[in-house]
Amino acid sequence: MLIVVLAVAVWTGAARVEAASELEARGKYLFGAAGGCACHTPKGRPVNSGGRPYDGPFGTVFSANITPDPETGIGKWSDDDIINAIRLGRRPNGDRLVPVHPFTLFNGVAEEDLRALVAYLKMIRPVTRANQPKRITVPLFDTVFLPAWLVAFAPRETPPPTAPASGVARGEYLVRTLGHCGECHTPRTATYAPDTSRFLAGNPNGPENSKVANITPDPETGIGKWSLQDFGGYMRSGARPNGEISGGLMGELILGTTVGYKNLTEADLTAIYEYLKSIPPVKNKIPRRGGT
Ligand code: HEC
Repeated sequence: MLIVVLAVAVWTGAARVEAASELEARGKYLFGAAGGCACHTPKGRPVNSGGRPYDGPFGTVFSANITPDPETGIGKWSDDDIINAIRLGRRPNGDRLVPVHPFTLFNGVAEEDLRALVAYLKMIRPVTRANQPKRITVPLFDTVFLPAWLVAFAPRETPPPTAPASGVARGEYLVRTLGHCGECHTPRTATYAPDTSRFLAGNPNGPENSKVANITPDPETGIGKWSLQDFGGYMRSGARPNGEISGGLMGELILGTTVGYKNLTEADLTAIYEYLKSIPPVKNKIPRRGGT
């Protein structure tokens, strides 16, 4: 009897370990689909330890330490605390996150995917590095300006009950939420809101002064002439169909950190490609880095 009980205990314990590692593996994949959350890893620094500066019209904000370090990272946060920060832009103490962290897009990530992502985040090596406070130049930013801006101008994605598994719906889900492609590829209006009428049509004044390509299916100024092989090859290596290599922000996301866009499965790359082919083409010529 005892042996049976023991055997069952060992067996269920093993099943639990396996389920946990399956969850973490899924989380790792989703971390890659988000570009390895590369903004949180400055060049040459430990994964997720934060500290990279981002300038915006409001001032400068530094990416946070999102390693599980209990004192300077998110080690003491509950899973729900982490999920709230990812999708609602709130720290456990109620502080607002500047939407440089794309919570209005991540809000559309399905609960099951967020749980897996959190399981993986908690496995990354903890690093002790205190966060720098943001430097804000706009008066009453946290109390008045940001809440008003969010209500007036920030469209917020809605999470599906479960993550779409395949096809164009899967591609749309990855592009609009986890992949946060629009964060850089959609131009912004005078109020700094994403210009949804020119979704993914490229941004000549992108983050960190980058010139962000038009990825709508316009044949002349977008990627309308790219085959699935062209697109898949680019997302795996950063090499355009003409052989030019992408550096800069896109290069960082393709490479990622522990994983990046380059680790997307063939099926997911196909889904993303099919979705990008289905959005309205917009003519918008973006000069390449280097001026061509
Ligand atoms: C952090 C900003 C950022 C995000 C997020 C981002 N990109 Fe990019 N992307 C860029 C920049 C910048 C370039 C231009 C790189 C260059 O000129 O070398 C680019 C280039 C590209 C190109 C090459 C187009 C061309 O004509 O050369 C494709 C395709 C692309 N991105 C697809 C995507 C997809 C799909 C996503 C989401 C899964 C995404 N990008 C998310 C910044 C970003």
